Amino acid sequence: MRQVVITKYGSPDVFDVRELPTPSPGEGEVRIQVRAAGVNFADVLARLGLYPDAPKPPMVVGYEVAGYIDAKGPGVTALFEGDRVMALTRFGGYADTVVVPARQAFTCPSELCDAEAAAAPVNYLTAALALYRMAALAPAETVLVHNAGGGVGVAATQLARLRRATVIGTASAFKHDALRSFGVDHVIDYRHADVAAEVRRITHGRGVDVILDPIGGRSFLASYRLLAPLGRLVMFGLSSAAPGERRSLWRAMRAWIATPRFDPLSLINRNRGVFGLHLGHLWEERRQLAPLMEMLLSELRGGRLTPVVARTFPLERAGDAHRFIQSRCNIGKVVLTT
Ligand SMILES: NC(=O)c1ccc[n+]([C@@H]2O[C@H](COP(=O)([O-])OP(=O)(O)OC[C@H]3O[C@@H](n4cnc5c(N)ncnc54)[C@H](OP(=O)(O)O)[C@@H]3O)[C@@H](O)[C@H]2O)c1
Repeated sequence: MRQVVITKYGSPDVFDVRELPTPSPGEGEVRIQVRAAGVNFADVLARLGLYPDAPKPPMVVGYEVAGYIDAKGPGVTALFEGDRVMALTRFGGYADTVVVPARQAFTCPSELCDAEAAAAPVNYLTAALALYRMAALAPAETVLVHNAGGGVGVAATQLARLRRATVIGTASAFKHDALRSFGVDHVIDYRHADVAAEVRRITHGRGVDVILDPIGGRSFLASYRLLAPLGRLVMFGLSSAAPGERRSLWRAMRAWIATPRFDPLSLINRNRGVFGLHLGHLWEERRQLAPLMEMLLSELRGGRLTPVVARTFPLERAGDAHRFIQSRCNIGKVVLTT
């Protein structure tokens, strides 16, 4: 089997391809011949050494794949050789073969091509947990989606539209036409405009009901201040810690220092809520995740959710995929193909 390895922390040049013996699935596991693997911003953070959960180099990152089962271990009854699946992988997804517990693999909706299937699990689960579970988004509410052009951002827009919410999205200006076509009602070029002033103008000074913020640092406080009464802020990333292709502990530290500590009395007095979300720490919460995943698969089958693939790269060009994301060029999900 072939894996793409992060040999050390650093720029996108640190990837290398290695050959390994093909693994056999154990009890309750399936082996998947990977056709496509999703690239997440967490992989970028891991490459930079800014993701504490990731293994140490040499490491293989990657949280999700799509492909075909070619072997299964004892005790697997619901999946069979030849089944087309999408699967969650806790690291190790940048490979042409993966072995995962069968409970992390899901029959792939036939409507999706391989790249679309690999684009779905992490982004839609994250967005659904944030919007539907934590924020309990209601129809007619207004949601502010930061980085609406990224993988999670596009998924969140689609899920918010399913709830008939109004979506305000921030993104680089060249993405705005695409975002409107995905259902974003109001777009803001956060790199040049005053986001707070724009949001207040759009909401006639009221603020927004729900905010998804993966930027972190000062952005969390700015978002918090934009909440309407009974508003909910979901914090789920710290991309401001990684503004460049090279590892900078100083910049990461600055983002961390700028991160606000919320005051319970202020939350009470202002009727606001703040949530933190980390999908990677919910792996064992199968009873909570399974119904959400079923709902998402049903919506994907019905065509009410449609993964947007920004671009695919061959597996061995994982470094170029990271460069593409870090140059902020992607509209939707970046995917590796075998
Ligand atoms: N907690 C969780 O469970 C969880 C799960 C998934 C993702 N996340 C987080 O959600 C965020 C989005 O993830 P994703 O996988 O959807 O991202 P993605 O598809 O890789 O999108 C990256 C986009 O984010 C924007 N961006 C903002 N700050 C950036 C920076 N410092 N460097 C490069 N791009 C930056 C850029 O678009 P514009 O500048 O045009 O907006 C870029 O195109 C990340 O912070 C990620 O860590 C968290």
